[in-house]
Amino acid sequence: MGPFCVVLTAGLALLGGVQAAATPVQEWGYGPGYNVYLPKGFKKALFVDNFSLYWPGSLPSTSKWAFDLGTSYPGGPGNWGTGEVQTYTSSTNNIVITTSGTLQITPVKNPVTGAWTSSRIETVAARDIVCPPGQAIRIEAWIKLGDLPASKQLGIWPAFWMLSSAYRGNYWNWPMIGEIDILENVNGASAAWQTIHCGPNAPGGPCNEYTGVTNQAALDRSRFHKFSVDIDRTNPGGSWRGEKVVWRIDGNVVFTVDGNRVNNETAWTAVTRTPKFILLNVAVGGSFPDNVANPSLGRTPTDATVRYVAVFST
Ligand SMILES: *[C@@H]1O[C@H](CO)[C@@H](O)[C@H](O)[C@H]1NC(C)=O
Ligand SMILES: *[C@@H]1O[C@H](CO)[C@@H](O)[C@H](O)[C@H]1NC(C)=O
Repeated sequence: MGPFCVVLTAGLALLGGVQAAATPVQEWGYGPGYNVYLPKGFKKALFVDNFSLYWPGSLPSTSKWAFDLGTSYPGGPGNWGTGEVQTYTSSTNNIVITTSGTLQITPVKNPVTGAWTSSRIETVAARDIVCPPGQAIRIEAWIKLGDLPASKQLGIWPAFWMLSSAYRGNYWNWPMIGEIDILENVNGASAAWQTIHCGPNAPGGPCNEYTGVTNQAALDRSRFHKFSVDIDRTNPGGSWRGEKVVWRIDGNVVFTVDGNRVNNETAWTAVTRTPKFILLNVAVGGSFPDNVANPSLGRTPTDATVRYVAVFST
C-alpha cells in the first residue's frame, strides 16, 4: 500500500495508584506477545486492540469494531452530518490489517467515476467506556498520517475520536450528546487538532459550535506518534468545574480543557461523564477541510487530491 496510512492502537486504562515503571498488560484471551504497556499511574486496561493479532489482509474484528457504511447512519444526517463526500465501505481496498500488524485506512478515488470511498469503524456497544467519579481514563493510539505533500491531500480528513453512546440510534442529538476529538487532521497539514463539541445546539453554545473548544498543535507527519486523551475526574474537591480533558502527543500535554472553561454543567457532563465509543476514520471533503483550505480552491477534495491516504495502528 502507499505511504498514506493511519495506524491505531487503542488502549484504555483506569487511573489508580502511581506505579514505578510501565507494566505490561495482557489483553484477555490472547496468547503471550500481544502486550501493551500501562502508562504510569494507570492500573488497568479496559480495552486494547493491538492490530497485529489479525492476519495481514483481514479486517478488524467485529467483536470490537462495527463498520459504519455508506453515506449516513440509518435515518441519520446525510454525508455523516459534515458534508463529507466519500462512501464508507468495509472493502480491504479501504481498510485492512497490514503485514506490519497495523490497521490501515485508505481513501480511494474511482478513476472512472471520480467517486471516493473510504472507511470508518467504531467500537461496538459492548465496549462502551465511561470514566467513573474520582477516577481518570486514558484513550490512546499510535497513529501515522500519510506523508504525501499537503498539496496532494486537500480534503483528506483522518480522525481518532469519541462520541457519546446516546448518539446511537438517534443521530440527531449532536452536539448535545458530547464529542471528544483526540486527533483530527485536514488537508495534509503538519498539525494535529484537539477538540470537544457540546451544548444544546449549533451554532454557538457553551462549546462555541461549529468550531468546538479546540486547539492546534504542530505535528511531524513523517512518523508514528502516540495520541492520547485523559478524561480526568480525580479533582479532589469533586466539583465538575475542576474536572479536565487533557490531550497528549508522545506524552507531552498539548491541550487541557476544564469544566470552568465550558461553564455549563449539563454540557460538561455530556463530554466527561457519559458512556462513549471510539471511532477511527478517514473522511474526504466536508466542512472542516473546506474551512481550513484556501477559499480560492473552492470545496475539497480538489482535482489535486491524491488517490489514497491512510491512518495506521499497531
Ligand atoms: C503489539 O503486539 C506486538 C507483538 O507482540 C508487539 O511487538 C507490539 O509492541 C504490540 N504493540 C503495542 C502498542 O504494545
Ligand atoms: C447548558 O447546556 C444545556 C445542554 O447542552 C442547555 O440546555 C442549556 O441551555 C445550556 N445553558 C446555557 C446558559 O447555555
